[in-house]
Amino acid sequence: MRLVTEDNITELAAARWSSAHDPRTAEVMAALVRHLHAFAREVRLSETEWMAAMRWLTETGQISDEKREEFILASDVLGLSMLVVQMNHAFDAKATPATVLGPFHIDGSPEKEFGGDMSDGLPGTPLYITGTVAGLDGSPVAGAVLDVWQADEEGAYESQIPDIDEARLRAKYTSRADGAYCLRTIAPKGYSIPMDGPVGELIRGTDISHFRPAHVHFLINAAGYEPLITHLFQEGAEYLDTDVVFGTKQELVVAFESREPGPTPDGGHCAWPWLEARYDFVLQPV
Ligand code: BEZ
Ligand code: FE
Repeated sequence: MRLVTEDNITELAAARWSSAHDPRTAEVMAALVRHLHAFAREVRLSETEWMAAMRWLTETGQISDEKREEFILASDVLGLSMLVVQMNHAFDAKATPATVLGPFHIDGSPEKEFGGDMSDGLPGTPLYITGTVAGLDGSPVAGAVLDVWQADEEGAYESQIPDIDEARLRAKYTSRADGAYCLRTIAPKGYSIPMDGPVGELIRGTDISHFRPAHVHFLINAAGYEPLITHLFQEGAEYLDTDVVFGTKQELVVAFESREPGPTPDGGHCAWPWLEARYDFVLQPV
């Protein structure tokens, strides 16, 4: 029998978890044990601190449901989500980079035609986003489905508003034969991540800004290409340098150019001053 000591407990626990039947689970669990123990040793974790951490984890689970993903939010603000994205979507330098999915994507958005309005009369400055979808060699990608979603002027996503029975600020667009796409929406604003839970409680005890810069989300699927989960950020927006979830990338920052009332990129007309953002997506082949 081998008695447990402070010196050998890590080795014993890692060996025990290495017995997981699935080899990858064994590798991941043994590494988790080693890193958790190294962390506790490094900070000399007290029992009070350990109990506070257990309470925090319990509350994080208790506030989570199918619409509220507090553990994912914790992963986001710790930079873990973005690290996982970077490691798993190391695309060619010419391809549009990926960023975090975030917790507000909803499946089954309605399909809209070229230039279709996904804001459906919500208040805000009209914004047309237009450009092409292409492969690495510049060849147009026809039939790419661009699933687009964003927050409203108050920074609220559809899933944060109770009792909504119609799609709100989300839609799917399909690229044309020449790869062109065009959508109409309203200019997004920067917004705060949810601060009324355990993640917010932690952040309030720091100097961390809890805001995300103005952005529109895209999930692009096309046959023969890697799915692309990304955002477009407004050039000059507040919080670009301090995005609380580390999601910004220089290649995803795009100018929102002011336009006078008049013709719009879909061949229509806008009676108010509007904004135009041009962005050409480049997809990574499978
Ligand atoms: C978002 O952009 O929707 C988002 C991403 C991560 C955490 C919170 C919000
Ligand atoms: Fe967002």
